[in-house]
Amino acid sequence: MNELENKNVLICVTGGIATFKIVEVASRLKKLGANVRVVMTKAATEFVSPRTFQEITRNTVAVEMFKDAADFNVAHITLANFADVVLIAPATANFLAKAAHGIADDLLTTTILATVAPLIVAPSMNTNMFENPATQENLKILANRGVKIIEPATGELACGISGKGRLPEPEDICEEIVKFFAAKKDLRGKKILVTAGGTVEPIDPVRYIGNRSSGRMGYEVARAARNHGAEVILISGRSDLEPPANVKFVRVETAEQMRLSILDEYSAVDAVVMTAAVSDYRVKHFSTQKIKKSAQSIILELVKNPDILKELGNLKKSQILVGFAAETENVINYARGKLVEKNLDFIVANDVSAEGAGFSVDTNIISIIYRDGKMENFPKMTKAELAEKIIHRLTNFLDARFSGQ
Ligand code: C5P
Repeated sequence: MNELENKNVLICVTGGIATFKIVEVASRLKKLGANVRVVMTKAATEFVSPRTFQEITRNTVAVEMFKDAADFNVAHITLANFADVVLIAPATANFLAKAAHGIADDLLTTTILATVAPLIVAPSMNTNMFENPATQENLKILANRGVKIIEPATGELACGISGKGRLPEPEDICEEIVKFFAAKKDLRGKKILVTAGGTVEPIDPVRYIGNRSSGRMGYEVARAARNHGAEVILISGRSDLEPPANVKFVRVETAEQMRLSILDEYSAVDAVVMTAAVSDYRVKHFSTQKIKKSAQSIILELVKNPDILKELGNLKKSQILVGFAAETENVINYARGKLVEKNLDFIVANDVSAEGAGFSVDTNIISIIYRDGKMENFPKMTKAELAEKIIHRLTNFLDARFSGQ
């Protein structure tokens, strides 16, 4: 089957002991119908000759910025533009560090910087090098930018130890490429607004009312929507997370600021996923000076913040509205009430007191409740996996709306 017919894959080979496995990757991709070009670092050529890749791909292999230019008109730009996807395999720790920081000191890293094609990276190295915080941080930087990381396998390494760091088998790497091209961009042309993080309500210039929301669930929802091809606006309260790449990012502090930023966009969006933990109250009188600790007790008078989602529910035209209900008791009943009260299409309920759920953890346990009373319960999953589920259900609603059901 020619699953990759007319697809342009640029393979960037850096110098690791696993370099030889990429010969088979290139060969398999060719057999699947792809047009394959290879760039190598100088170190990679110590393991495999460029000629080998040249024979397999039937294309000139580029290594040096200024020497291999005979076939190319500005080599790095030609290569960067050629790619529908770029596979970097094996990716050394050195490469990850350079890519994370935008260093372009050879043809390969310059090409990476010049391309707008998605990157798929397959790291391979000694376990200690892989687990070194520097490497882990670089991987995080790349993942946050939307780079797909193929996790290395665990097993016998060339350096004699056993651990994590092995390059996955060629067929698994090729499978990732096939999956990439098969991935559905089912939200292309749709505009999705996601809110995340906790709002911050100032008391005086120093103190505020806040909450424990990390923003993780909402950032994952934004990332998933982007991956499905949507145009994404992420409006975020407080969160320490790096915003996903290629989304319109708006930072806000208070519930009122969040409300205004959402209303600015609301009429033009197809859906809103309201993950943010919006403070229900704010102080009635903001003190312009720091409040002194002279009195034994003080009373802060609080007034109710606008319920943004309820307002969106009232203003709703064709937008699909998704709410969240984070509770510590009676989760499902409260969630059902909010679904109706706020005129939502579905609501994601979670018991934030359950282990492996709620704030500041990578996992969550949710139920999705629909208008017709149906409910789906999900087991404990990572927030990234749950974001996929939520986006999938949202896509069904958008499809139904567009087909006039
Ligand atoms: O009513 P409750 O705060 O539990 O509802 C939670 C849902 O409503 C969440 O989706 C949250 O983002 C949203 N919300 C809001 N404005 C508020 C409070 C909550 O939009 N003031």
